[in-house]
Amino acid sequence: MAYKTFVTLMLLSLLASSALVQAPGAAPTAAPTKSPASPTPSPTKAATPPTASAQAPTVAPPVSAPTTSPPASSPSKVTAAAPTGLAPTSSPPAPLGPSAGVSAGEAAVSEGGGLKLFVFGDSYADTGNFEAVKRPGNPFNYPLGMTWPGKPAGRPSDGYVLTDILALFLNTSAPPTYSLWEKNSSAAESELKNGMNFAFGGSGALTTWENVTLSVQLRQFKQLVESMVFTPSDLQDSVAVLSSVGNDWGYFFAINNRSVVGGEDYMKKVRTSILEFLEELSEMGIKKVLTNLVITSNISVLDNHNKLLKEEIDAFAKRDCMKMVVLDYDNLLDAAKAMYDQEKGNTDDDCCRLLPQYVSNYTMFCGDKDESGNKVYTLCQDPAQYFHFSRGHLSHDGWKKMNTVFLESKILDPLRS
Ligand SMILES: *[C@@H]1O[C@H](CO)[C@@H](O)[C@H](O)[C@H]1NC(C)=O
Ligand SMILES: *[C@@H]1O[C@H](CO)[C@@H](O)[C@H](O)[C@H]1NC(C)=O
Ligand SMILES: *[C@@H]1O[C@H](CO)[C@@H](O)[C@H](O)[C@H]1NC(C)=O
Ligand SMILES: *[C@@H]1O[C@H](CO)[C@@H](O)[C@H](O)[C@H]1NC(C)=O
Ligand SMILES: *[C@@H]1O[C@H](CO)[C@@H](O)[C@H](O)[C@H]1NC(C)=O
Ligand SMILES: *[C@@H]1O[C@H](CO)[C@@H](O)[C@H](O)[C@H]1NC(C)=O
Repeated sequence: MAYKTFVTLMLLSLLASSALVQAPGAAPTAAPTKSPASPTPSPTKAATPPTASAQAPTVAPPVSAPTTSPPASSPSKVTAAAPTGLAPTSSPPAPLGPSAGVSAGEAAVSEGGGLKLFVFGDSYADTGNFEAVKRPGNPFNYPLGMTWPGKPAGRPSDGYVLTDILALFLNTSAPPTYSLWEKNSSAAESELKNGMNFAFGGSGALTTWENVTLSVQLRQFKQLVESMVFTPSDLQDSVAVLSSVGNDWGYFFAINNRSVVGGEDYMKKVRTSILEFLEELSEMGIKKVLTNLVITSNISVLDNHNKLLKEEIDAFAKRDCMKMVVLDYDNLLDAAKAMYDQEKGNTDDDCCRLLPQYVSNYTMFCGDKDESGNKVYTLCQDPAQYFHFSRGHLSHDGWKKMNTVFLESKILDPLRS
């Protein structure tokens, strides 16, 4: 129970974070939303009494969460999450080293031969776009990437993110980022055989604190296809990934004065935009897609959204004969966290935690220092003991545990066949 609670809080923060990254200060400009019309919201419950810990996010910290619940919460953790990212380089090093320990699953991947991953969405999947674009002169710092590859790698984790786990599962390597390609195409060239990663931390289907929406990411992709960087046959044999964990809601909630009023209409627009995106992928010739439902944090607007989204995606997949895998993070994260806790003890916290005064400051990340050179975070002794690394993003070992859940449930198998 306690753990359940915690998870809820954490998820809230994840949402927030999912946004990951946020943009700083920016006042959220555009509000996509419309005015509140109606639906009332349901207040979700916050699981535990949130005590407030540090700061309450007032209005809209960028990343902050979508939550309905009171800001900071309880006991531990759960702060908002912001993404982190790490790496200086933009390009993903070789993703998963074998060493990493994730076992790829015995599965017999078919004849090698260049499976490409085309990755879209938010920080759960971003391997360097946010960092390259938003922190050009100040790349992510240690301890991001400390577990793998041993230095910051553009990811909001001490190691892997979702993209790395998938690459491992599919016996390919994490693809280069679009920002690397834009900056220096010859540096990305040798990795194009692995596809490309357009995912951008903090982004959503609609505009959030970040403007690299799904349609912007799709446009980037289409341009590369038009210029034959990727061919139709590349697309046919590829797997596309759309990670959309909760930034749309996080942003809506923040700019809507933390009220869920109007949320149903807003999420309807989000679904429309996701379905349009999927249909475009289908038209381009992509046949296999991995996507997910949002982390609901027990917010009823989001539960309803997930239900409708799943129905719409199922209908679309059937109509277009797509192989679609839709991850239900509420359940999968719960399952992975439960396994993790069983092995490691309760780890309801981030390994790398921002000091209270920086929790709502989304220009600051794990690894950063203030003007006087003081760290703005505290770091745990051993990241392997933590399911989450920073601002609600899973740790390297947290993702490996998710991989175990993926393998045991066989949920990703359709992507391999
Ligand atoms: C994975 O890919 C490598 C290189 O492309 C290939 O040698 C190996 O046989 C593949 N493994 C499986 C399980 O397909
Ligand atoms: C671009 O990448 C290539 C290959 O890694 C490298 O040789 C070249 O110096 C890079 N150019 C710039 C401007 O960084
Ligand atoms: C996003 O915003 C940045 C400035 O914040 C701007 O330079 C860029 O052109 C915008 N991108 C899009 C796709 O609107
Ligand atoms: C936002 O909510 C707070 C507290 O719920 C309220 O005092 C404030 O007037 C609201 N602001 C707007 C712009 O609705
Ligand atoms: C979500 O809400 C339901 C109904 O109020 C409650 O029973 C359940 O424990 C909550 N789940 C979490 C994770 O808090
Ligand atoms: C975040 O922290 C930095 C360093 O202390 C400070 O310069 C900046 O103004 C803060 N930003 C916000 C939005 O509080």
